[in-house]
Amino acid sequence: MGKPAGRRGLLLSVAAALLLALYARGGAGEPGAGAKMGDHPYDAFEPSERCAVCHKEIALQYEKSAMAQSQALPWDQAEYFKLALPHTRIEPRVAAVEAGCIQCHAPQAFLAGDVPPPEAPKADRKADGVSCDMCHAMTGFDGEAPVNGNYVVSPGKVKHGSRKDAAPMGHEAAYSPLFKGAELCGTCHDESSPYGAPVKETYREWSLGPYREAGITCLRCHVPAAAGKAAVMGKERPDVAQHLFQGAYSPAMLRGAATLHIYPATEETAAGRTLDISVVISNHRAGHRIPTGSTEERQLWLRLEARDAAGKTYHIPAAPAAGDPAEKSYSVTTNRPAWQDLGRMMGIADFKGVPRDALPEGDRLFRKVFLNPLGEETVAQWYAADTGVFDNRLKPLEAVVERYRWEIPEGVAHGGLTITGALNYRRLPQSVADMVKIGQVPILPVAAGQAVILVK
Ligand code: HEC
Ligand code: HEC
Ligand code: HEC
Ligand code: HEC
Ligand code: HEC
Repeated sequence: MGKPAGRRGLLLSVAAALLLALYARGGAGEPGAGAKMGDHPYDAFEPSERCAVCHKEIALQYEKSAMAQSQALPWDQAEYFKLALPHTRIEPRVAAVEAGCIQCHAPQAFLAGDVPPPEAPKADRKADGVSCDMCHAMTGFDGEAPVNGNYVVSPGKVKHGSRKDAAPMGHEAAYSPLFKGAELCGTCHDESSPYGAPVKETYREWSLGPYREAGITCLRCHVPAAAGKAAVMGKERPDVAQHLFQGAYSPAMLRGAATLHIYPATEETAAGRTLDISVVISNHRAGHRIPTGSTEERQLWLRLEARDAAGKTYHIPAAPAAGDPAEKSYSVTTNRPAWQDLGRMMGIADFKGVPRDALPEGDRLFRKVFLNPLGEETVAQWYAADTGVFDNRLKPLEAVVERYRWEIPEGVAHGGLTITGALNYRRLPQSVADMVKIGQVPILPVAAGQAVILVK
């Protein structure tokens, strides 16, 4: 770690020093250091099916996660083969992502030097995602902080884990503190683009937030403990690591990750009057921002509506703070054409873009904006040159207050007026999914709330 820091070093906790190092470090966007391409052939790692024979429950859980299929899911395939790989051929600055993507998404193909790997599904093991043996071969990371796939691996008979008293069969086990921390995860859940822009910051967000301070790592939420056995012939234990690894694909994980409360400024009003409403949203369950991870393409938005006593529904549009034009342009849903760089990557002449959000217009978005070197908004995180222009994502254990001002229409029915707010999530704008033909992307509810006032 770092240079000797003298007396000041005494004041810094190890974690804080790590963070400083992280921020001092410019992102290379090259495949991270650590294990090198070609270091280990495919058969240096055992296939996960072999582990499943004894670690039955763990394997059943893990194979349902997106991370187990991190190279084979339709959007992973499409983004690499239809966008990133062609882009490396026309933009020398991003050439290193040909291997860089694979280092995190198909680590065994990367380690075997099989880059680019064959397209799935015909590729069988070659499109394996992060496998059991890959993770349990990790012994550390290279450099000062985990980023860009800088994991170090030592595959073989010894499986690394967090127990000092493991009693394995058919293999050996070694204790490593790495398996209780967040750094193991951070090697892939933190990324800088070839332009040095931070483009995946889950580890950094966690590091800067209240959960690191409280000693709560990724594992408590994503690999929670339960009583049972770690292996069919293993002993009964009170705290077996449940390999759920659920995130953006999981309705259960998203539902309730944030809370939403609606406060109209008055309980009684009349048609034609102005109504002030505040909506308080709080990220009370995620150890990082929401959304996190592939922030460039995740959509989280708040829709506010009012329904009058006659059942007629009115949309209450978002009113960005002080009418800030940048904020309005970045964080209010719109269908103006965007993502022009995707057309160039796909070789479509005169591509004018597709609707940016593919959602009803006028709703509040919580997002971090990624700009490419031409200043266009982009969902191609490897092409992001500036990610510092706008970020209103929800911080862990913090609330935001969204303020609305609505002119109550003259024709509104007398009686109860129900104001409803819905916070929804989608992994990717449907317009982008349609471009690369990967089907429907579901909209998942995160939080909802309502309040009723009287219209006299
Ligand atoms: C023949 C059965 C068998 C197979 C196959 C097997 N294991 Fe194990 N493994 C065990 C048993 C038994 C334990 C001990 C469980 C305990 O102590 O509660 C264990 C423990 C472990 C641990 C725990 C170490 C720790 O510190 O907590 C890890 C990690 C592990 N195995 C990984 C793997 C991986 C990865 C594979 C496949 C490459 C695999 N195992 C294949 C039987 C097996
Ligand atoms: C070798 C790289 C690597 C390591 C190490 C790694 N991950 Fe991942 N993880 C990925 C990739 C790649 C994906 C994206 C899967 C996809 O493309 O859909 C992912 C996805 C996830 C998801 C999201 C699943 C979803 O449904 O959206 C969670 C949660 C997750 N990882 C948690 C963890 C935790 C916790 C750790 C540490 C114990 C960890 N990961 C370690 C590469 C890694
Ligand atoms: C992303 C990295 C990652 C992957 C992939 C992964 N594990 Fe683990 N595994 C961990 C971590 C971290 C722990 C320790 C969790 C803890 O102590 O809270 C663990 C713990 C274990 C344990 C010990 C459980 C216990 O509580 O005694 C076994 C056994 C195990 N893993 C087997 C597997 C098998 C089998 C697979 C594939 C089906 C797998 N792991 C996939 C990271 C991973
Ligand atoms: C206090 C619990 C908690 C902790 C700690 C935590 N997470 Fe999460 N994580 C969640 C919840 C809840 C969600 C679902 C909401 C969301 O997407 O943010 C989530 C979602 C995710 C996703 C999917 C995000 C997306 O939009 O694609 C990834 C990846 C992830 N977590 C990785 C991590 C990693 C890596 C760490 C540690 C550095 C970590 N998490 C720490 C609770 C937690
Ligand atoms: C530093 C490791 C790392 C690198 C490098 C990396 N990824 Fe990822 N990627 C991840 C992780 C971790 C996730 C999961 C984050 C989340 O859940 O939002 C992810 C998520 C994704 C997703 C979203 C999956 C989904 O189903 O929503 C796609 C697509 C993707 N990556 C493609 C790529 C491509 C293409 C490249 C190269 C240009 C690349 N990644 C480079 C680690 C990496």
